[in-house]
Amino acid sequence: MSADGARGPVVAVPHERPRRLRTTPAVRRLVAQTRLHPADLVLPVFVRDGIDEPQPIGSMPGVVQHTLDSLVVAAREAVAAGVGGIMVFGVPRDEDKDADGSAGTDPDGILNRALARLREELGSTTVLMSDLCLDEFTDHGHCGALDAAGTVDNDATLARYAEMAVAQARAGAHVVGPSGMMDGQVRVVREALDGAGHEDVAVLAYTAKYASAFYGPFREAVASTLQGDRATYQQDPANRTESLRELRLDLAEGADMVMVKPALPYLDVLSDVAEVADVPVAAYQVSGEYSMIEAAVERGWLDRDRTVLETLTSIRRAGAQVVLTYYAVHAARLLGEGR
Ligand code: PBG
Repeated sequence: MSADGARGPVVAVPHERPRRLRTTPAVRRLVAQTRLHPADLVLPVFVRDGIDEPQPIGSMPGVVQHTLDSLVVAAREAVAAGVGGIMVFGVPRDEDKDADGSAGTDPDGILNRALARLREELGSTTVLMSDLCLDEFTDHGHCGALDAAGTVDNDATLARYAEMAVAQARAGAHVVGPSGMMDGQVRVVREALDGAGHEDVAVLAYTAKYASAFYGPFREAVASTLQGDRATYQQDPANRTESLRELRLDLAEGADMVMVKPALPYLDVLSDVAEVADVPVAAYQVSGEYSMIEAAVERGWLDRDRTVLETLTSIRRAGAQVVLTYYAVHAARLLGEGR
């Protein structure tokens, strides 16, 4: 009120009204800068040896360890929903784990069998990706071979990755995803693939992979018995420019696509990488990111559908062209309903 009480309050009229472009769903849709599409999503799946029925994963409600048969059904569902690709993780029987992770390179190991089966059933109607890492297959749970002191031996591990890449390509992977954070892994994998006549198999490099607490539920998913941590090979969450260094190396070594992982806690890193990479950039919404949402949804604290679409949109907005997410099929269906 003015001093004399006769006139109304003095209101400054805004010169600009951003709300105009938020008035209706139609105008919001028209001006949306980031769109989610099922084809940008990749579904990570787990396949376990020696089981007759799919096994639920306690810390990842709604996600299971598949049998070979149930994996095929799940993969077909993902393809039908329009999901862009499938990333396969193998879980061997405990008795097949050893210090070298032999089951990872064995053509009869569960991951290679699963890739062969999926390639046979689905052909090239989707993009089949394989995790290229030893932690699922080693009895100590580390991503590589250990030296006498119990530290992961970088160069000894590279030789194992080379074998693993060829085994996965032979089995039918379109894309291999070296995720062990060994120095020089992309070059070794590229050379091994080319040397074995698999020039067309692409490398999705886990370029910026942080030593993250958010991988916790994944350990249960792959029944890993890791002693200690991965801090001598995965990146320190405190570091940012180090990811640009990893990017430079991976591109020089021949990466076809690069990935940042985890996703939501590392959107700054994702944005940095996306700004300079001249190859497609992916991000991985990891197990802990999934479980955190599910736990809150279970308590009625978050709305699942809105939270899923918002997190995926944010990851795309930060610069990821491709998003790996356990919600891939769920999100694809929501998008199919026009959300
Ligand atoms: C390594 C690998 C891990 C994940 C993907 N690849 C585990 C790790 O590095 O500790 C984690 C994925 C997730 O948490 O969803 N094989």
